[in-house]
Amino acid sequence: MSLQPHGGTLVQAYNPQKSVVHIEKEIVLDTIALSDLELIAIGGYSPIDGFLTKEDYESVVEHTRLASGIVWSIPITLPVDQAVAATLQPGDEAKLIYGNDVYGVIHIEDIYEPDKQKEALLIYGTQDLAHPGVKKLHERQGIYVGGQITLIKRLEQIFPTYSFDPTETRQLFKDKGWQTIVGFQTRNPVHRAHEYIQKAALETIDGLFLNPLVGETKSDDVSAAIRMESYEVLLENYYPQSRVQLGVFPAAMRYAGPKEAIFHALVRKNYGCTHFIVGRDHAGVGDYYGTYDAQKIFEQFTEDELGIVPLKFEHSFYCTRCEGMATTKTCPHDSASHVILSGTKVREMLRNGEVPPSTFSRKEVVDVLIKGMRKEVLK
Ligand code: ADX
Repeated sequence: MSLQPHGGTLVQAYNPQKSVVHIEKEIVLDTIALSDLELIAIGGYSPIDGFLTKEDYESVVEHTRLASGIVWSIPITLPVDQAVAATLQPGDEAKLIYGNDVYGVIHIEDIYEPDKQKEALLIYGTQDLAHPGVKKLHERQGIYVGGQITLIKRLEQIFPTYSFDPTETRQLFKDKGWQTIVGFQTRNPVHRAHEYIQKAALETIDGLFLNPLVGETKSDDVSAAIRMESYEVLLENYYPQSRVQLGVFPAAMRYAGPKEAIFHALVRKNYGCTHFIVGRDHAGVGDYYGTYDAQKIFEQFTEDELGIVPLKFEHSFYCTRCEGMATTKTCPHDSASHVILSGTKVREMLRNGEVPPSTFSRKEVVDVLIKGMRKEVLK
């Protein structure tokens, strides 16, 4: 099993010594571009070493590949408004600003107007503005700037104990002696179904990299701080410490279903994973994607092209007759015996003061969620 980064080399574009005194042009980043800037620079998005140029952008949108042919599924773009675009020229350098700070520099290669309707349809599979990813796509500015970046200031780490660059996770996995590592993406508290598929994977894989996304999510998702606490209590009480590594994934959530599943897998490959879990409706939202669309998309690429193996899991649930977690692959009973709760349903129950059953979520996790929600209400 190879631990090669995607495209062969881990991009390293952090240089705090880089001087910006001679650079006059400025681009103000939105929060998505800010997290993307850092992820590009630390190699999370290798082989991408900058915000996509027009050629790469169009190729990703239309063919799910960079212009070089390497598989890539989510456009990593730097949007600016018309007025800023008018001040920029290919060949310029521009400071990348957020708040009062300069976080990086872009070496501008091109400035172009994207076809956002096309981007919505081909990346999100819909043009519906009620889709949170499509809505966000249209809320962002209308002109894209492409070019290589240098990061000069690291972002403040909200979870310092669990923040690792790909170079660090790769070393960690090596130190632990893991040959095979399965990555797990999540934007939710870990419920019994998640735990079940993680542990099913751990029966044959050396280590689990529990890698919750903590970048921007839609407002009704459980906040990252509460989720992190829920992961801590779960790992402490129910996982063998030597087989799990918790680490945050600082990207924004796109809710792009299948296309995002490929992206999530490739980024975890860069963090050093050999395998990646894709369960039911991965990175989905509402009813926009079929339950297993995010698994099926992996068939469009060869194992060599991806370089990370998807571990595909059926929709899992607690079966009251089996008295344990199962899927239709392992349980013969009908749905009347199955406890199926969605993350949305759980949030609803918690808001109404109801306690989700332990067949859905571990008690320790429920306690953290209730405590966290109370705190948020009091804020
Ligand atoms: S996601 O947007 O990050 O995919 P979530 O945190 O709910 O959302 O899911 C994390 C991973 O667990 C995804 O791979 C998803 O497909 C999988 N998953 C979530 N719930 C289930 C379930 N009941 N059965 C099987 N897989 C699931």
